[in-house]
Amino acid sequence: MRKTPVWDGQGRYQLLGADAKERIYTPVAEDLDEVIANIAGVAESETTGPPPEIEARLAQVLATPGKRIRPAITLLVSKLWGRVPDERTIKMATAVELLHIASLIHDDTVDSADTRRGHATASNLWGGNIAVLLGDFVFATSATFVCDTNSVRLIRRFAQTIAELSRGELNEILESWSLKTDRKKYLERIYDKTASLFSTSAESGAVLGEGDEESVASLRRYGYNLGMAYQVLDDLLDYESSPELLGKPTANDLANGVLTLPAILAIESGDASEAVSAFMTAPVADRPRLLTVAYDAICGSDALRRSRQIANDYISEAMRSLEPLPPSPSRDALVELTDYIRDRQF
Ligand code: FPP
Ligand code: MG
Repeated sequence: MRKTPVWDGQGRYQLLGADAKERIYTPVAEDLDEVIANIAGVAESETTGPPPEIEARLAQVLATPGKRIRPAITLLVSKLWGRVPDERTIKMATAVELLHIASLIHDDTVDSADTRRGHATASNLWGGNIAVLLGDFVFATSATFVCDTNSVRLIRRFAQTIAELSRGELNEILESWSLKTDRKKYLERIYDKTASLFSTSAESGAVLGEGDEESVASLRRYGYNLGMAYQVLDDLLDYESSPELLGKPTANDLANGVLTLPAILAIESGDASEAVSAFMTAPVADRPRLLTVAYDAICGSDALRRSRQIANDYISEAMRSLEPLPPSPSRDALVELTDYIRDRQF
């Protein structure tokens, strides 16, 4: 049931007694339910026509609930100017979540990851070929949802986002096991991999909510900064968190030869340059021992604290992008989302 927000007299609306997650999702709870129903519908033969064997596998990959951050952004942003999310907005929110799901199916295949969100991945269950083609199916379906917005501008932006996602993932593979990744390359890569879709989620909400062009640009910046913070923190959690909390393996990036911000900063400062270089250039048999040495050098340096500081700077920038927008429960939820992403432990 929708809760009524109460103006707190100090510039914010409040859902009294609600926790952070509730305050973020409640303004769009019913719309998100429609998005979730659309996603479940992708596996049903009457909507898309796959035979039952595919249908069952699709249903399985679509059933694992994620955080639904991207569709929540599209929906919340679309309400900033007082409009109720219409069918086109629900379709766009569905498209961004489906694209995200498709990219994770592909990513887990590329990474040979066994678990995601605490469940076995598609590639683990059925092998890489099936997983890639299931991902393609979801990915193509996401595009049909964007077409239903009838906006060439959004279709174009969505297509660019897909190209950026693929470029980010390609660069990650091409740069793996190389010591050449620097901060600039890393930031470009995480824009492509993550901030691009966050930015598109926010921008499309602003276009469909009929915000003026200045506001559309502010929301694009909001999505960009939130997405950059999200990926920096994701990369930090790979060093700091545990598989139990995250629902996926940790200490995974360096083990796969991928340098993310903590490693890059610890190399830059000289604290881990020798240890990481020894690990990255070692014969395969020596890697497990040298991985521990490199990992400890990174964790023992100041790089984790500095990575968090960089994420916090992106979070502050995201919050600043919301300042020019009219006060509303949706704007407050978008502010709250920045805190939620900053503090997430999973
Ligand atoms: C997860 O990052 C991966 C992404 C955010 C993007 C993956 C993109 C592709 C596979 C491009 C191709 C996709 C399509 C549909 C064209 P991560 O590996 O850093 O995070 P993780 O630890 O959660 O796996
Ligand atoms: Mg991955």
